[in-house]
Amino acid sequence: MNLQETLNWRYTTKEFDTTKKISEEDMAQVKNLLRMSPSSVNLQPWHFIVAESTEGKARMAKGAQGFFHFNAPKITNASAVVLFCSKIDADDAYFNHIATTDDINGRFPNEDIKNGFLGAVKAFADIHKYDLKDLQHWMEKQVYLNIGSFLLGVTTLGIDATPMEGIDVKALDEEFGLRAKGYTSLVAVSLGYRAESDFNSTDKTPKSRLEESEIITVV
Ligand SMILES: Cc1cc2nc3c(=O)[nH]c(=O)nc-3n(C[C@H](O)[C@H](O)[C@H](O)COP(=O)(O)O)c2cc1C
Repeated sequence: MNLQETLNWRYTTKEFDTTKKISEEDMAQVKNLLRMSPSSVNLQPWHFIVAESTEGKARMAKGAQGFFHFNAPKITNASAVVLFCSKIDADDAYFNHIATTDDINGRFPNEDIKNGFLGAVKAFADIHKYDLKDLQHWMEKQVYLNIGSFLLGVTTLGIDATPMEGIDVKALDEEFGLRAKGYTSLVAVSLGYRAESDFNSTDKTPKSRLEESEIITVV
């Protein structure tokens, strides 16, 4: 599929075929996709809970009760569900961890360049911590960027997805003990294969977008 075909093929799947399971090989690629997303200063301020078993999906479905019940079948009937979580805070120890990891991966020809990078990471983080006072929000934005590349990336594997902000993040934070580990949940993405009867498939419900002339100004 070329890019145009890929964009037309994907849509938010509302009903999964429960008989189809994503292969282990494809799940390995899915996990690598999560890992390879870009982020500002390579901060990678995220963690992912991946539910593949019936038991794991049942735990994930605790975030789709009450007001959020409409998303429950999209979780329990999926092949796998990824919960995207953001760091709550970032400190010097974490910045050092990022710089050391980059160093081990061969990014720095010498100590000066490593220290320059570390200084830049801290400078950007300080802007968000003190000037803009949005450190947590900034880190959440990096996680959303990952979600964007994830949604397109899984499509290239022929995998359907359902991004869901309609989840009880407090319940999921408690279920997976996230806050104590310095994380909070943001969005769940269910993965699998569309059911024939899915009302939201593009042959039954066409995609709708604002016109290009309204959203793009070429200067
Ligand atoms: C961050 C985000 C959160 C969303 N939350 C939900 C949700 O909770 N439940 C749902 O069924 N769809 C959800 N959607 C799907 C959107 O409604 C959908 O992406 C949009 O209508 C465009 O349609 P398309 O994805 O089929 O192209 C969400 C999408 C995004 C990107």
